[in-house]
Amino acid sequence: MIDITDRVKNKSLQSKIVSAEEAATFFKPGMNVGCSGFTASGYPKAVPIALAERMKKEPFTVNIWTGASTGPECDDVLAQVKGIKGRLPYQTDALLRKQINDGTVDYQDIHLSESAQLSRCGYLGKVDVALVEAAGITEEGDLIPTTSLGNTASYVQSADVVIVEINTTQPMDLDGMHDVYVPLDPPNRQPIPVVKADDRVGTPHIPCGVDKIKYIVPCDIKDHTRDLAPIDANSHKMAEFTLHFLNEEIKAGRMPKNLLPLQSGVGNVANAVLAGFVESDLTDLTVYTEVIQDAMLDLIDAGKLKIASGTAFSPSPAGMERFYKDVQKYKKYLLLRPQEVSNSPEVVHRLGVIAMNTAIEVDIYGHVNSTHITGTKMMNGIGGSCDFARNAYLTIFYTPSVAKDGKISSVVPMCSHIDHTEHDVDVIITEQGIADLRNKAPRQRALEIINNCAHPDYKPILLDYYNRALEKTGHAHTPHILEEALSFHERFLATGSMKK
Ligand code: COA
Repeated sequence: MIDITDRVKNKSLQSKIVSAEEAATFFKPGMNVGCSGFTASGYPKAVPIALAERMKKEPFTVNIWTGASTGPECDDVLAQVKGIKGRLPYQTDALLRKQINDGTVDYQDIHLSESAQLSRCGYLGKVDVALVEAAGITEEGDLIPTTSLGNTASYVQSADVVIVEINTTQPMDLDGMHDVYVPLDPPNRQPIPVVKADDRVGTPHIPCGVDKIKYIVPCDIKDHTRDLAPIDANSHKMAEFTLHFLNEEIKAGRMPKNLLPLQSGVGNVANAVLAGFVESDLTDLTVYTEVIQDAMLDLIDAGKLKIASGTAFSPSPAGMERFYKDVQKYKKYLLLRPQEVSNSPEVVHRLGVIAMNTAIEVDIYGHVNSTHITGTKMMNGIGGSCDFARNAYLTIFYTPSVAKDGKISSVVPMCSHIDHTEHDVDVIITEQGIADLRNKAPRQRALEIINNCAHPDYKPILLDYYNRALEKTGHAHTPHILEEALSFHERFLATGSMKK
């Protein structure tokens, strides 16, 4: 077994060091397991692998609650043995997605800022065990977090039993990069005192205490972060539109010269937009987001970033190597918080965040679907997109104008599922252009979106729909032909294309 005694500072706790297989014997059918982890960062690995092995011989299921998605050593290994019954609040694993959509897994897609509160207040049942990764344990029995904070501190607080994986691939230098603050619940809640992106309001470690810790398990499996795809032409265009738009906002006096704190989703578009900031003239940028990716390291190296606050550090493997080589330098600019603080509606609203997230489809009035394919099949989940979109100073959604080689229009008459209503969406950007929906009534928005954002192949049929809807409803506030509103989706399901 890997020696982790130097990382377990409290000598009495060292007797609790066991193998992953021994720790896996603790789990019982139906248990609610509160895991660390947010994206493929800071999630437990050795124990889920051992638990999956046990489930192969002795099939049973547990409920997995996390911060968000995890890596394959947690979600995928357990899905492989059909070991997950309930899952929340977000996930991205392909097999789990299949099981969510074939009735095997009961998935609750929950606002990331809200999931810890729901579990603490008892709506979800009890956290039977907190299964968390740490870099080390202090003399007091508190946990030194690794590359994410997610809901870890809350699950540890709620659970009577805590199993800690000490991950020796995570450097002890991470110590000091975190700010752990778990709000009190109503009616005792206080304002979260974050008024600037770099404010520290909590403790560097996760309060746990010696008594709750049942087992400590050594682990030397790295975070399974993924390579970023090269920036494609569409994403590049969307990034250019964004920078142009934000510069105009500065010129119009609606934003300071260094903008407002940036939030950006994950993936190709988000990466391209942030890469655009590296190339731009903008300096002194601040970031108040969920997931910190490679572009933040580029912004630091370019001398453009004051602080990036998030809940997970999830760069590509190359980005991780780069970070590990110079942790002391980079960690001055990076701050990880629990997701109920990184995504707090209160704080996002106070700081005036610029929210930039990706949609699956948008409709001609500005509603956004981030989660469901043709209204029924779950893709990933809302993640933190609603936390930010509803409360930001400026809310931008991105989508390429078409999907699946042009067979799907991402601009449709009516979204087949709505995560973000027209009331929360300020700007829509596709590779075709930008629709500024601010200060526009629905009929004005429809023309702005169709003319600026729809693909030329779909513009005529969208305009035709809109004009007939206008006529049919006598120029109603939000013109629709109800029996036709989902006709694009129906045509796709019937013929394999939304084209007529
Ligand atoms: N209809 C059907 N399929 C569509 C589609 C549409 N309108 N739009 C996209 N897709 C498909 C793509 O073809 C692709 O399929 P593939 O995996 O088979 O290639 C898949 O959806 C993902 O699309 P992609 O263009 O690669 O985008 P992405 O990786 O940036 O993901 C979301 C886009 C919306 C799924 C993703 O951003 C997400 O899960 N968002 C919700 C959570 C969120 O916003 N998190 C950040 C918040 S803080």
